[in-house]
Amino acid sequence: MHTFFMKKSLELAYLGRYGTHPNPMVGCVIVKNNHMIGHGYHQKRGEAHAEIHALKSAGPHAEGSIAYVTLEPCCHFGLTPPCTAALISAGIAEVFVASLDPNPFMQGKGVAALRAAGIRVHIGLCEEEARHLNRAFFHYITHKTPYLIGKWACSLDGQMSTHPHDTRTLSNPESLMDLHDLRHQTPAILIGARTAEIDNPSLTVRHYGEKVRHPQRIVLNSKANLSPDLKLFNGTLPNQTWLFCSEAVHASTSARFSAETTQIFTCPSFDHHLDLRTVLHILGQKEISSVLVEGGRTLLHSFFQQQLIQEVVSYHTPWIIAGIEQKQAVTQLSCTELGNNYKIQGLIKAKTARQ
Ligand SMILES: NC(=O)c1ccc[n+]([C@@H]2O[C@H](COP(=O)([O-])OP(=O)(O)OC[C@H]3O[C@@H](n4cnc5c(N)ncnc54)[C@H](OP(=O)(O)O)[C@@H]3O)[C@@H](O)[C@H]2O)c1
Repeated sequence: MHTFFMKKSLELAYLGRYGTHPNPMVGCVIVKNNHMIGHGYHQKRGEAHAEIHALKSAGPHAEGSIAYVTLEPCCHFGLTPPCTAALISAGIAEVFVASLDPNPFMQGKGVAALRAAGIRVHIGLCEEEARHLNRAFFHYITHKTPYLIGKWACSLDGQMSTHPHDTRTLSNPESLMDLHDLRHQTPAILIGARTAEIDNPSLTVRHYGEKVRHPQRIVLNSKANLSPDLKLFNGTLPNQTWLFCSEAVHASTSARFSAETTQIFTCPSFDHHLDLRTVLHILGQKEISSVLVEGGRTLLHSFFQQQLIQEVVSYHTPWIIAGIEQKQAVTQLSCTELGNNYKIQGLIKAKTARQ
């Protein structure tokens, strides 16, 4: 039963995936006589924590009950009052905590406060799942730099584009929906200068209505020589785009961008490649807890070379990009798992497809 209720808490925590960062996702259920009498999750940074929602929904019945929380309850005044105090004053008898909070302010202090008040506390139930759910938060709190997800779409022969002026996307509607969901969950998207120049992207979240929170747009362009007329800088998109350029760039060059649409950051560069560790350090200071690195190939290569990526999302399209102008469609695809390898097998359509 304990595992069942903790898994419920984890499911609740996951509902917060679109709004809590840089805070963690946290869920809580309150159980009495094996019945769930209260539940809640942290929905948005600055708003009530999971325990407070759960205690509110349990009301006075919370006295003498068990709380299942996916992360150690906080014991300090941050943007909201401490949850340990709320659990103690509600008369909770026992608390199951999936994972301790890696935050240096915490590290067991929440558990100690509960125990000091006579509450029985158990740590580590479903810990692996809880840490996986908040892997970006754990990375960010520990390293003070964002968790990086490398994302790309590619053909079966590993190409990420056909030729520079080909606007056809390698993705299909389903993979685009998945990508926009991923963007919606991630605080920032980062791209290289050539992708900004060639694709002229918006980097917004689509299909989620008008009130959606768009990720912070970030472009690396050491020379600051992109056109201010690109969508990223011309004022047609909500909020500012962050442009990272070299410290060596003359102020008159970066002044071409409107301060209303573009915030400029400078950092060291070597051979027209910005120092990625400095970029990440600045993003950490700006409380960006995770970033979707959307390419292109040159930029992804730099991130991989320096072992800075923590997770990858790769969409594969059933095409072979044979040359500059053509794609060959591959059909009847099958994918077989061979240990940690995947065998993808298919037939190339007889006629070359331009689709
Ligand atoms: N299929 C996909 O998933 C996907 C995704 C994105 C893009 N694309 C395609 O990829 C193509 C562009 O890719 P690309 O490889 O030519 O260029 P890119 O990776 O988009 O941009 C590379 C540029 O970024 C700047 N940069 C700054 N710091 C860097 C660093 N530390 N490491 C690497 N680059 C750094 C440099 O320009 P400066 O000298 O100006 O700083 C560099 O030339 C486009 O055709 C686009 O459509 C495909």
